Amino acid sequence: MHIVTVVGARPQFVKAAVLSRLIRSAAYRERISEFLVHTGQHWDDNMSNLFFREMGIPEPEVNLGVGGGSHGRMTGDMLAGIEAILIERKPDVVLVYGDTNSTLAGALAAAKLHIPVAHVEAGLRSRDKGMPEEQNRIVADHLSTWLLCPTETAIENLSREGLVDGQATAAPTSDHPGIKLVGDVMYDASLHYRAIASVRPAAERALKRLGIDKPFCLLTLHRAENTDDRERLSGIMEGLRRSAGIPMIFPVHPRTRKLLDLHGITLPPHVRPIEPVGYFDMLELEEACDTVITDSGGVQKEAYFFHKPCVTLRERTEWVETVESGWNRLAGADPGAIAAALTTVSAMDGWRPLYGMGDAGERILAVLETGSDAKSGNGA
Ligand code: UD1
Ligand code: UDP
Repeated sequence: MHIVTVVGARPQFVKAAVLSRLIRSAAYRERISEFLVHTGQHWDDNMSNLFFREMGIPEPEVNLGVGGGSHGRMTGDMLAGIEAILIERKPDVVLVYGDTNSTLAGALAAAKLHIPVAHVEAGLRSRDKGMPEEQNRIVADHLSTWLLCPTETAIENLSREGLVDGQATAAPTSDHPGIKLVGDVMYDASLHYRAIASVRPAAERALKRLGIDKPFCLLTLHRAENTDDRERLSGIMEGLRRSAGIPMIFPVHPRTRKLLDLHGITLPPHVRPIEPVGYFDMLELEEACDTVITDSGGVQKEAYFFHKPCVTLRERTEWVETVESGWNRLAGADPGAIAAALTTVSAMDGWRPLYGMGDAGERILAVLETGSDAKSGNGA
């Protein structure tokens, strides 16, 4: 089986690392090959190359260099670039991850050429079509032949939109997709790379290198709905200002840095900005912090993986299980709600694996090879 994988943004490197590693392992490499396409959506070293180096992701065969600019232009340029590659490579399947513009372009390019699309992290919904991520997910899901879902909720979301597992009647197609519950590759990644990150020499580790003392809150913030809107961004900063008891460490996404400058908004003094960190440092910070505050999809889940209470700077989340379990509170951009959530959120008594057992990668490859999610390889 020949796979073309399309990635472009930071969270996709983390997700793709899991499958790229498995595909190149002894258990699969005789049967599966992968051609890795980087759209170029993220390009700074600490938003892109650093992840490939640290996580041992193979160098992309192609980098389309499409980063920045408006969504339409970016997606259109990616679409044209990916189409040319797919015509040349003729893959059996195109693998896309998550909900970015790179996901949308990869799915659309493949579907128009009648190449089956496998969507990893299918079925997530925030029920807010104003979010670019929600638009991208919906289109990618409805064009996919394989919908690889991390949670039961995702399967229910798809069924509400008329997408049900069509395999019982025929080989899956985009009209009758195969829908499988496989777990979450981000959980696989956190387990695998945490073991590697935690044995780094002390001098390489983030706390030591950056002089970070415990206790601290870990803050990330980059979503368009929070950063582009001056009022929301100021509201969030005011909420953080009212929570001055807790020092905060803030790896600042380049989008947020740009918009804080543009809006003339300054950080409260107890919020320490740092450059975006690599995945190993991020795992270390998530493990060491007391609480997480974020609007990131991936970081909400990672807070849960590390048993850390989380305050989410959004009105809605697609990761509803984290909220239902009591570990995650939605606070939006309202200063009072943020300050209140930060003082009340705490570790809960119960923790159970909500995102699979750390074998989502193997399950995905089993689905692609055999149509069933029973694991076929013996792992790596
Ligand atoms: C994108 C995804 C978002 C995801 C996020 C992960 C879409 C619509 N959004 O948002 O879902 O949560 O990635 O981080 O696909 N920039 C740089 N250097 C970089 C990358 C970005 O300077 O390496 C700056 C540029 O000014 C760029 C801006 O950040 O215009 C926004 O980048 P973009 O990829 O459009 O969106 P993200 O906010 O990163
Ligand atoms: N991440 C990282 N360094 C950072 C911030 C985030 O390695 O400075 C990782 C984080 O651990 C997670 C992924 O990037 O694995 C999430 O990406 P992001 O928050 O950019 O996007 P989202 O998940 O919101 O789409």
